[in-house]
Amino acid sequence: MANGLDDVVAADTVLSDVDGVGGHLTIRGHSLAELAGRWRYAQVVRLLFDGFFDDLPGDAEFENAIGKARVEVFDRVKPLLAQLAPLDIYSGMRAGMAILPDGDGLADALRLIAAPAVLTPALLRLGRGETPIAPDAKADHAGDMLRMLAGAASPALAKALDSYLVTVCDHGLNASTFATRVVASTQAGLTSAILAGLGALKGPLHGGAPGPVIEMLDAIEASGDATAWLSAEIAHGERIMGFGHRIYRVRDPRADALKAVVRQLGSRNEASSKEMGSRLAFAETVEQAALEVLRIAKPQRSIQTNVEFYTALLLEAVGFPKEAFSNVFAAGRVAGWIAHAREQQATGRLIRPQSRYVGPVPDLVA
Ligand code: COA
Repeated sequence: MANGLDDVVAADTVLSDVDGVGGHLTIRGHSLAELAGRWRYAQVVRLLFDGFFDDLPGDAEFENAIGKARVEVFDRVKPLLAQLAPLDIYSGMRAGMAILPDGDGLADALRLIAAPAVLTPALLRLGRGETPIAPDAKADHAGDMLRMLAGAASPALAKALDSYLVTVCDHGLNASTFATRVVASTQAGLTSAILAGLGALKGPLHGGAPGPVIEMLDAIEASGDATAWLSAEIAHGERIMGFGHRIYRVRDPRADALKAVVRQLGSRNEASSKEMGSRLAFAETVEQAALEVLRIAKPQRSIQTNVEFYTALLLEAVGFPKEAFSNVFAAGRVAGWIAHAREQQATGRLIRPQSRYVGPVPDLVA
């Protein structure tokens, strides 16, 4: 068995499939290209939930139900926000989610979908000394997230964020989804399962990479020489954030989906779009330099651009600070976690692998 379990199939799922050789992501029978930029996040959440909740309403009603859940979550967490604000933004979100009821029903699921979208802007605003903005139950999910962050949301930025949430909504049995399924296999409630996913997502090898991507881009810009900067990092044994994947041996299809969104934002006829266009051009230069440096440094391994590289550019463009990027990732991925938790509860057994003991043995007493 490989260290890291990459040769182990630990679940049957109808939710998503990651083809690491062909570079395809399938979500419930749809390719990522069919969904990203075409389906709204609420529709994709409903697609993932289909069959796992008895009382699932139609598309329009479902989107309204998510809106109402945002309002309910805001009312529940409001008295706590001042205590959560001094924590780092991810820990604050996680602590706010931990107080949600721990049931298995659709209402529990909707609160968990709503919670990262509500907590992240509220905590960011408090951190800036501003008053949190209450959700608007009638707004679309991504647009409302941006409105709660900045007071207003342009339709173009809301659509970009919506495409991002769709792009990251589910991705096979990644570390956070596996952690979620392990907890769900004990028949614990959805909040407990999602908290496990949140813990796993936080690490820089999983969902914590896009913040460091921005730091890398800024450092390379300041250095003026991408290849030299990247080569020095590799020489010091550092990893280049936004590159490499456990499953993909080719380009991560989500990187291209997000790059297309950033490109669209950059081509609008506004001053901010010009800035975005040149940021994208610079990032593309860095990407090419990184791929070349990695090809030379690790010739035995195909290390390609992953989802986090263009996530960083997209989330920066829609107005999130880099310290909140993992929160926004969680706001998208929570849909997949919930569906996997329900699937595990419905079809799986308690997950209880074995370990091989390699420590000292006690002396046997005669
Ligand atoms: N930069 C430099 N080297 C990398 C690398 C990267 N981004 N990704 C993999 N490698 C190298 C490792 O150093 C290792 O080299 P070695 O064999 O000489 O020791 C080799 O590739 C295999 O690494 P391993 O950690 O076993 O591969 P993995 O399949 O588990 O890697 C990641 C997957 C995501 C953990 C890894 O690519 C990584 O750390 N990427 C950077 C963080 C990131 O972008 N995370 C977001 C993932 S979506």
